[in-house]
Amino acid sequence: MKINLLNANLIKTGIETNLINKVSLHIFDSIDSTNLFLKNLTLTNKIEICLAETQTKGRGRFGKHWHSPYAENIYFSARWQLNAELNTLTTLSIITGITIIKTLDALNITQGIKIKWPNDIYWQNKKLAGILIESLHKDNKLFIIIGIGINVNSTEITNLTNPWCSLAEITNQYWDRNIIISNLINQLGTNIKQLMQNGFAEFSQFWQKYDYLYDKQITITQGKNIISGVAKGINKHGQLKLIKNTNQKIIINSGEASIALHN
Ligand code: BTN
Repeated sequence: MKINLLNANLIKTGIETNLINKVSLHIFDSIDSTNLFLKNLTLTNKIEICLAETQTKGRGRFGKHWHSPYAENIYFSARWQLNAELNTLTTLSIITGITIIKTLDALNITQGIKIKWPNDIYWQNKKLAGILIESLHKDNKLFIIIGIGINVNSTEITNLTNPWCSLAEITNQYWDRNIIISNLINQLGTNIKQLMQNGFAEFSQFWQKYDYLYDKQITITQGKNIISGVAKGINKHGQLKLIKNTNQKIIINSGEASIALHN
């Protein structure tokens, strides 16, 4: 089978004209981590995008490793300069998950796709994509790094303990990642602009349609602290609403959500 490698020209061809002049692409065969590359790259007012065929130190949330087999999946990071407060980061993390859903939607892949708060993408209880958002501050400016890993063509990844899936498994076909990446950049551009101009409210409704945890008995792990309750969607800041088993209503700002085993 022919393997399509990452191709800057193909990606650029698919980027919308209003974005293309703002984007600077960095494509590597191998790199430690695309997020790390953008953390260390000189600050500019461009949208800096880093992609790699493989990552030797792919980083996940909570210090986990992100497996990055060669030329199979998408390892993508984008650095954006924002005129916003740091407290937009929760909503930004939510809209990045929504961005992935919209990207898949444009490729006609929607059946059974869900978002697990704050931004893991799931299909049939298996993880399809993950997001790692980091931020940088310099001279009163805020730069955010949006790291996205999407399992595209992998059919086998060794050493993974948690259930995972790929677009190839969902659709039974091989995908050219370049097309998905252009789409992802366009959707990200549109959604970040919309978030900055109109706020988060418009995204809440979209979220409800794809909420993987809604009404489920879940646990939230925050370091050594574990909170149990029933998930009740998100509020206007993108925080998770939870009714604890004591009936107390609380708001969760961070942590790793898991569905309780007896669900
Ligand atoms: C998670 O679900 O734990 C987040 C995974 C994020 C992985 C992506 S792959 C591209 C970017 N570079 C990294 O080192 N991590 C993110």
